[in-house]
Amino acid sequence: MVEVRAERASKPTAIRIVGIGCHPGQLTLEAREAIVGCDYVIAADKGSSDQGDDPLLALRRAICADLGVELVAVPDPPRDRDDPADYDGAVLDWHDARAAAYGSLLDRRPGTVGFLVWGDPAFYDSTIRVVDRLGVPYDVLPGVSALSLLAARHRVVLHEVGRPVLVTTGRRLAAEVEAGHDNLVVMLDGKLKAFALDGDWDIWWGANLGSPHEELVAGRLADVAEEIAAARARAKDADGWVMDTYLLRRR
Ligand SMILES: C[S@@+](CC[C@H](N)C(=O)[O-])C[C@H]1O[C@@H](n2cnc3c(N)ncnc32)[C@H](O)[C@@H]1O
Repeated sequence: MVEVRAERASKPTAIRIVGIGCHPGQLTLEAREAIVGCDYVIAADKGSSDQGDDPLLALRRAICADLGVELVAVPDPPRDRDDPADYDGAVLDWHDARAAAYGSLLDRRPGTVGFLVWGDPAFYDSTIRVVDRLGVPYDVLPGVSALSLLAARHRVVLHEVGRPVLVTTGRRLAAEVEAGHDNLVVMLDGKLKAFALDGDWDIWWGANLGSPHEELVAGRLADVAEEIAAARARAKDADGWVMDTYLLRRR
């Protein structure tokens, strides 16, 4: 696939996957330089929803406008999000569809192309896997992940001295706890699955970290359920979207 694309292309294509952190102040110097050096940036356009236009696309547009780089929005292929029986298969199909959409744009418009990834591309983001399918050279620049920001805001270390931390999703939380994990960072949990767990836990929770309306709650899980639900609703009202993550540790 590399040779085919190189033959068609009038200039070589290279991709820069740039972690942009969780707010514009977290754009590192190397990230800014990488974006400025791009011929254009590709961003997935998830379309508008009842929560309004895609806020992450708007943020990418603002960064590109600020740095004087063109942003090309590519409609995001539809994805089966309704808890498909074959979750991994549905995700792989979606990656293939995204790769096809980006590949055809790169064929038409070769050059140095940026992808701006929320937080750090290393955590629960498909960009590296999708770009890897394209058969063009690429590099990755890290950004500040929501989990780093969560730890910083609560002024905690994510693990106890010399002990591990498991980073997982709401979907997997119950199974990980069942398997014996007792110190976990949970992402992608729109349903606050921690509250369905048995046992005595401490939680350090944060929503919309980096936005002016970020919310933080910490305490014994059994005591802060209502506080977290109210804070989550406030964040959603204020920003029109909500993303939350938390550290969970058995007492
Ligand atoms: C698709 S993952 C992307 C993670 C991202 N690559 C990172 O490094 O933070 C999205 C999940 O990350 C977490 N997240 C991302 N941004 C957040 C923020 N500003 N505040 C709280 N949680 C956030 C939430 O758990 C959300 O469901």
